[in-house]
Amino acid sequence: MTHDLTPKYTVPGIAREAAGRLIGVLRMRLHAFNDLHLTLKHVHWNVVGPHFIAVHEMIDPQVDSVREMADDVAERIAALGGVAQGTPGALVSERTWDDYSIGRADAIAHLGALDLVYTGVVEGMRAAVKEAGDIDTATEDLLIGQLRALEQFQWFVRAHLESAGGALATGGATSETEAAERGAEIS
Ligand SMILES: [Fe+2]
Repeated sequence: MTHDLTPKYTVPGIAREAAGRLIGVLRMRLHAFNDLHLTLKHVHWNVVGPHFIAVHEMIDPQVDSVREMADDVAERIAALGGVAQGTPGALVSERTWDDYSIGRADAIAHLGALDLVYTGVVEGMRAAVKEAGDIDTATEDLLIGQLRALEQFQWFVRAHLESAGGALATGGATSETEAAERGAEIS
């Protein structure tokens, strides 16, 4: 990212330059959450097949929770003296991942693809927790709680893809399309 994110002021006890680095970390988390709650709604709207209602209804509480996560991260950025960049154009130009690639599809196929989406978000959160921990325990604490909730949501998704023996249908899939195809095989 090329912007200078160093704020004119920040919370007491943190250097402005360190706050700027932290704001950069949170900016990407805000993009990840805004992307994720829109993607979850897209899945909510485009699931079809015998598992429609279970998946359609499972998704909305996740949307609400992820929207709250976005709000909390945005307001932490503001409290740190930064700008909470919430516009779609900034999200699309700065994100480091691709747009969700599945349109209308079987519910379990969507869940296969969502498993990969959550893996990307959770990995990003773990890295962000580490980076925040070096600068600010209050921000680290916020991110840790969000990480735990996201891992629980990924478990909800994965439970649909898991065999009684404990194996994941999507294990080893490297793209959303591949994960969706593997999910569709067990539905
Ligand atoms: Fe709805």
